[in-house]
Amino acid sequence: MTDIDFFDLDLKDKRVLIREDLNVPMEDGKVISDARLSAALPTIRHALDNGADVMVMSHLGRPRENISIRDQPKFSLRPVVERLEVLSGLSFELVTDYLDGFVRGNADVAVLENVRINFGESTNDKALSKRLAALCDIYVMDAFGCAHRAHSSTTGVINYAPLSCAGPLLRSELDTLKKVLHSPIKPTLAIVGGSKVSTKLAVLESLITRVDQLIVGGGIANTFLAAIGMDIGSSLYEKDLLDFAANVYKKIDVPLPTDVVVTSEMKSGAKIRVCDVRNIRSDEMIVDFGPESVSRLKKSISIAGTILWNGPIGVFEIASFEEGTKQISQAVASSRAFSVAGGGDTLAAIEKYGLKSDISYSSTGGGAFLEYLEGKTLPSVEALAKRLVVQEA
Ligand code: 3PG
Repeated sequence: MTDIDFFDLDLKDKRVLIREDLNVPMEDGKVISDARLSAALPTIRHALDNGADVMVMSHLGRPRENISIRDQPKFSLRPVVERLEVLSGLSFELVTDYLDGFVRGNADVAVLENVRINFGESTNDKALSKRLAALCDIYVMDAFGCAHRAHSSTTGVINYAPLSCAGPLLRSELDTLKKVLHSPIKPTLAIVGGSKVSTKLAVLESLITRVDQLIVGGGIANTFLAAIGMDIGSSLYEKDLLDFAANVYKKIDVPLPTDVVVTSEMKSGAKIRVCDVRNIRSDEMIVDFGPESVSRLKKSISIAGTILWNGPIGVFEIASFEEGTKQISQAVASSRAFSVAGGGDTLAAIEKYGLKSDISYSSTGGGAFLEYLEGKTLPSVEALAKRLVVQEA
């Protein structure tokens, strides 16, 4: 990406408003993955170290617009701010009323409460974009995870801030994905798992024109197995996508499992058995790949030059169904390939097996990661490029 470089800007005494994606998974009011927070902190630190007055904004979940955070408290960024303090040792203040300006307290960083409660955020409202822009001297779009959303805080504000630029996290995500899509080390391998082909249709269509081999996992693999005429018992699959899967199978090398782990109950502690993929009983469903299939896939992984990974192989959240996902994750981590992983479930698997440092690049994007791989233009990136033309003129 060629645009104004955040690292070249004089930030001293400037009001710098950074859009991050702090939309983290939560359980019982607690943050359960630090990945997006750790990825955002270097940008925040750089601005602070260079004397900026730093404000950070983000969404969390999908709250209703124009309803006070007091009436939908589970969407408050409060727990995220608390977690950021623990991770960084910095002090953060959460600001609730900020659209018409606010007085800064003594904290190192001001965090604006969930931007998605602001009226007009999701419709990229011009008036809201201008109010956000008026809060700063420099706007930094660093939230790759929501660069596919044409919202006021991610896109509209770019047009009105005195100066707008991409942040280092957004830049490194785009540079990495560009590299793996356009100049990958061969052979290239994509691993696409998850429950439904329908949510990954466009990405599969795009990847088959770019990669040498495609490993499919989860419910996606079930649909492929059914498409080549296998009887997959009670396994979940998508009937209306059988032709699509058969067509993909014709076009590219898709190594389907020859043995699988099956169960008749999708729950922890359920009885499992490993069987040949041709011997699944009518009341059984596939929950993981079997050892023979996993060892075959590990060979493909070990010779790949580039690996693009999105989605688990099996139902890894349940211990007795996790072996395939665990072994494939470990194989990706120990391969010589340049490996790029993206998506919430994939990062959860990487965190679960302690492999983060062995994956070449873990993207913070879920939907944005997929849309980029689909070849779509991300609205925030497009807005930054257009604004660049104006700023440079
Ligand atoms: C994500 O988690 O993919 C991003 O934060 C975007 O969230 P959204 O799908 O609610 O827009």
